[in-house]
Amino acid sequence: MAQAIPDKTAHVLGVDIGGTGIKGAPVDLERGSLISERVRIPTPQPATPGAVADVVVQVLSQIGVPGPVGLTLPAVIRGGKVQTASNIDPAWMDTDAAQLFAEATGRDVSVVNDADAAGIAEMRFGAGKGREGVVVMVTLGTGIGSAVFSDGLLVPNSELGHLPLHHEDAEDWAAESVREHDDLSWKKWAHRVEKYLELVQRLLWPDLIIIGGGVSKKADKFLPYIELRTEIVPAQLFNNAGIVGAALFAPAGEG
Ligand code: BGC
Repeated sequence: MAQAIPDKTAHVLGVDIGGTGIKGAPVDLERGSLISERVRIPTPQPATPGAVADVVVQVLSQIGVPGPVGLTLPAVIRGGKVQTASNIDPAWMDTDAAQLFAEATGRDVSVVNDADAAGIAEMRFGAGKGREGVVVMVTLGTGIGSAVFSDGLLVPNSELGHLPLHHEDAEDWAAESVREHDDLSWKKWAHRVEKYLELVQRLLWPDLIIIGGGVSKKADKFLPYIELRTEIVPAQLFNNAGIVGAALFAPAGEG
């Protein structure tokens, strides 16, 4: 079990809700780093709103410090409300997630799309730091998430993982989960990712593409196969981008 921070002063916390794990930690917003080791509890199945809220409460109590919380969900979020449920339990549709988590935790909370959170963390502290123009972060995981920035400003809920490609949702053809499920070689999968990024390039003409998601740790296995006009780099914050980005969006954060 992760150690709790000894001092109980309030911190800003980030909680990243994913398909397999719910991860949280207090975040140093100046440095973009975790103040203590992250706490991770497996995502309950089925991951209904009530079940997820219960686990979020457990994660926060294991962390053991008070403070406002930013949370991520893999869905379009507007004004704290869930607008889509392509990768999460359908029961989330139209849920007021901000209200749900505020009531469950008794804290000030905010809720944001997972890729937007990871993207803002990369822009502030990682591969996008100091980069102007149009930057697109693409997260390759269970689905494909995206975060679009213009001169550092986020255009929220861009959902580029649902662009049509090969007669289906791009994420159903090129996500990291498809590579695993279909046992594709890195080269074959890289070819799919390249086709996908070409589409993104053709539509947005970004100055930089950042590849995020857990697989960004293995960028050397697939990025060398990808040739693109646009500069393309792996993310730098790896697993912590979601937590750090969530905290930046927390009520006392600065996202
Ligand atoms: C969802 C996005 C999410 C992405 C990555 C997609 O299926 O529609 O909101 O960012 O998965 O989790």
